[in-house]
Amino acid sequence: VVLGVDLGTSAVKVLAVDASGAVVAEQSVSYDLQQPHPGYSEQRPEDWVTGTTQAIQQLIRVDHLDPAAIKGISYSGQMHGLVLLDDAGQVLRPAILWNDTRTTAQCAEISAAMGDEFTQITGNRPLEGFTLTKLLWVKENEPEIWQKVATFVLPKDYVRYRMTGQLAMDYSDATGTVLLDVKTGQWSQQIAEALEIPLRICPPLIKSVDFAGNITPKYAKTTGLPITTKIYGGAADNAAGAVGAGILSNDKVMASIGTSGVVLKYEDDPTVDYHGVLQFEDHAFPDKYYSMGVTLAAGYSLSWFKHTFAADEDFSAMVQSASQSTVGANGLLFTPYIVGERAPYADANVRGSFIGVDGTHHRYDFVRSVLEGIIFSFKDLMQIYQDHGSDFKTVVAIGGGAKSPLWLQIQADIFNHPVVSLENEQGPGMGAAMIAATGLGWFDSMEACADTFVHYGKVYQPIAENVTAYADIYRIYQKVYGQTKDLS
Ligand code: XUL
Repeated sequence: VVLGVDLGTSAVKVLAVDASGAVVAEQSVSYDLQQPHPGYSEQRPEDWVTGTTQAIQQLIRVDHLDPAAIKGISYSGQMHGLVLLDDAGQVLRPAILWNDTRTTAQCAEISAAMGDEFTQITGNRPLEGFTLTKLLWVKENEPEIWQKVATFVLPKDYVRYRMTGQLAMDYSDATGTVLLDVKTGQWSQQIAEALEIPLRICPPLIKSVDFAGNITPKYAKTTGLPITTKIYGGAADNAAGAVGAGILSNDKVMASIGTSGVVLKYEDDPTVDYHGVLQFEDHAFPDKYYSMGVTLAAGYSLSWFKHTFAADEDFSAMVQSASQSTVGANGLLFTPYIVGERAPYADANVRGSFIGVDGTHHRYDFVRSVLEGIIFSFKDLMQIYQDHGSDFKTVVAIGGGAKSPLWLQIQADIFNHPVVSLENEQGPGMGAAMIAATGLGWFDSMEACADTFVHYGKVYQPIAENVTAYADIYRIYQKVYGQTKDLS
């Protein structure tokens, strides 16, 4: 078997997967998030290591997984989090996470210093989530820590470092630092010079499937894993999620609904220019990329609606009640900007709306309009791809949107594309296991691994009359942002 370590923000989940792609066991250990000030979000890197170690120990002790059967391990990691290390490899301060928003001033500094050149180099615009802004914040606000910094890594790289003793960062996560030149695959001299970040603190780069070392004798002793266990680079969680969903070629786009939502597309040309409206990152395999747009309140819009207006109802019954409404929710339209938006509008201040509320509307119309509004926000992102001439054929739905046949059909009708879900969805941990399986040489390529590991379920085809109706409503939806953005 291989282990896929999914190092998330609330927990680490470790999947044990056999050579046929079947999950034979899984364990998860949760950890805290510290929010010492509004907008701050931090974690102790030690908690990630302890959690991962405990999950592996439980696989062996509780699930009776034979340690000798574990051939390789790889990772999916929460992106962008800054872990600072001194020259003895000791952690200098708590990690500053992807969802920490303290760095608005640093984003403005980057824009002032570099303007569009920054987006040309990185494929991204400066956003609070990205690691570079966090490096600048520490440099400006904690000079006594800054002067001790020997190197920095990202969350899963730190866990890998503790398991192998080797420092490295994989390309898919390195692009998320926005300190990497996405076209050359090297740390950017221009950005480092413009912002006075010494390049010597940037770690060595490896590919996701690269062998990153064997586990240390100490880690072998702590876990019971054989010293021969091989460790592979791993990937950013969105890249690993895309691998697990089979997004390895141009013909598929992923639509993922968690608390936030992600529309993600495989890319093979790093010169495609989305002007920073979409994020652009290295994929989990060499010289391939992906772009993605984030809807901040996707599943969150629905859970907000549920706890505010349907607290005592079962979640799936509430979602199903939307079938009593009509295509277009009897004229009710929702925009999901309830915590601001990231893409296509980077606007922290806009707020959501219900448009067209009528005295005849029932609660189920509101439920339906929330389901539809979330998908219209995804449609805005799909539209960017279509405007760039992309000819993807199928949308792979994962997360909350894949759990309801009604919502899957709404996606097919609004996207006007066939929509499929995964037969046995496991999240980015499966992508991590696939990276380990490919790294070990079980498969010649990630694509060959996906042929064995990734299975799609029923195809939801767009229904012509619904497509026409939604196309009209989408034209109205597109106007709402411009007409409401200055109201809140
Ligand atoms: C992507 C992002 C999140 C984290 C969550 O840019 O910030 O999706 O990767 O772990």
